[in-house]
Amino acid sequence: MTEQVPTKVDMEKIVSLCRRRGFIFPSSEIYGGLSSCWDYGPLGVELKRNIKEAWWRAVVQERDDMVGLDASILMHPQTWEASGHLKGFTDPLVECKNCHLRWRSDDLADNNCPSCGGELTEPRLFNLMFKTFMGPIEEEANVVYLRPETAQGIFVNFQNVVNTTRKRLPFGIAQIGKAFRNEITTGNFIFRSREFEQMEIEFFVKPETDKEWFNYWLEERLNWYVKFGIKRENLRLRQHTKEELAHYARECYDIDYLFPMGWSELEGIANRGDFDLVQHASSSGKSLDYFDEESKEHFVPYIIEPSAGVDRSTLAFLCDAYDEELAEGETRVLLHLHPALAPIKVAVLPLSRREKLVEVAKQIYADLRQCWMVSYDDAQSIGRRYRRQDEIGTPFCVTIDFQSLEDEQVTIRDRDTMNQIRIPISELKNTLQAKLAGEPLFVLPPGGKIWKEEKEV
Ligand code: GAP
Repeated sequence: MTEQVPTKVDMEKIVSLCRRRGFIFPSSEIYGGLSSCWDYGPLGVELKRNIKEAWWRAVVQERDDMVGLDASILMHPQTWEASGHLKGFTDPLVECKNCHLRWRSDDLADNNCPSCGGELTEPRLFNLMFKTFMGPIEEEANVVYLRPETAQGIFVNFQNVVNTTRKRLPFGIAQIGKAFRNEITTGNFIFRSREFEQMEIEFFVKPETDKEWFNYWLEERLNWYVKFGIKRENLRLRQHTKEELAHYARECYDIDYLFPMGWSELEGIANRGDFDLVQHASSSGKSLDYFDEESKEHFVPYIIEPSAGVDRSTLAFLCDAYDEELAEGETRVLLHLHPALAPIKVAVLPLSRREKLVEVAKQIYADLRQCWMVSYDDAQSIGRRYRRQDEIGTPFCVTIDFQSLEDEQVTIRDRDTMNQIRIPISELKNTLQAKLAGEPLFVLPPGGKIWKEEKEV
């Protein structure tokens, strides 16, 4: 019997699962960690890779109006002057006159220090860009910045891409990469950190079509999260007020997710108008116009920017997938991750360590690994092994038992329903392929018969 336990996902459970199972560790933990920096462990790196792969597939591979880019993190310092980041990428910082802790003033309810209640200084603007030096001499002339967004690498390459790909408007450039912000307040696990990854699209359009494309991308991006398993009721669109609009934006919506700490930004979608191309053209002296062959006109395209965070997406997918249920009097923790995102797709579980069984199981393991990330587990009872796989979101377990030696059949067990089917080893790869693509457990690939589905024992 399985019954739902009403659980509200709290952040502690997610952090604990991530730590316990090797998804995410504090950075440089043996030295006491480094504030708001995180390391993705063996399962975390797979989950993150799968999220990036799903995004790249949806926005680049499956479209003919998008190309990819991988620009360098360090850019010419003039970039940040032109983009407005040197002047405008700031947060208001206050300091407690008593304990000297520093806070973002717009995060505070009143003018008292949240730690000791002391009086705070007047706010001053604090630039969030990390500085470093290029070359061996540490002087002002050699200052470079770690990029605070990947977007600028796309803008400065606009003409290169147009010239080398012959792409015509509307088209986009997509990029995944690290960004760095010296945030004053961090926290909520990987939600806000100082080093993070972004998945950004800069979609170049004719100015008069900006509204249409803005709405298109709002819908497209919202649907992407739903397609990969996030419940629609846990997502919302929130329009930026005039006061909160970034200096470059004409209009902006956040896709918010209902994180354990409440509704917070998962992705921002902005209409950046012609701000960036105009700024870079004027600062570099190079034309970033586009020549429209139909109208024979030169103009500066408008840009629609869907900008997502890889780490925030990872956190949202984990929170949404997390579940606890009572199974046979025990709490079963499981991650209902979409098969495309699950770090491990299949676990191969021999019922015992007897040589004959191991031989068959290892052969199956070697075979399946050609297609997917597969795990092999022969430690402890089969029930325990199923629970371990449930907890990390493995969609299917393949069990090899003594009967398998006689009939050359194995059992596939489904993570979500705990139902099982028994099928010939020769059909295993095709069957798993179909199941991972979303076919119900009891339907075999075309031409196969329908197999009896049974509950896990
Ligand atoms: N190019 C536009 C841009 O960077 P943003 O709203 O500042 O816009 C886009 O950032 C996304 O990057 C956010 O929606 C979030 O997912 C992610 N992000 C921003 N700052 C972050 C931080 N400190 N830690 C983790 N993710 C962050």
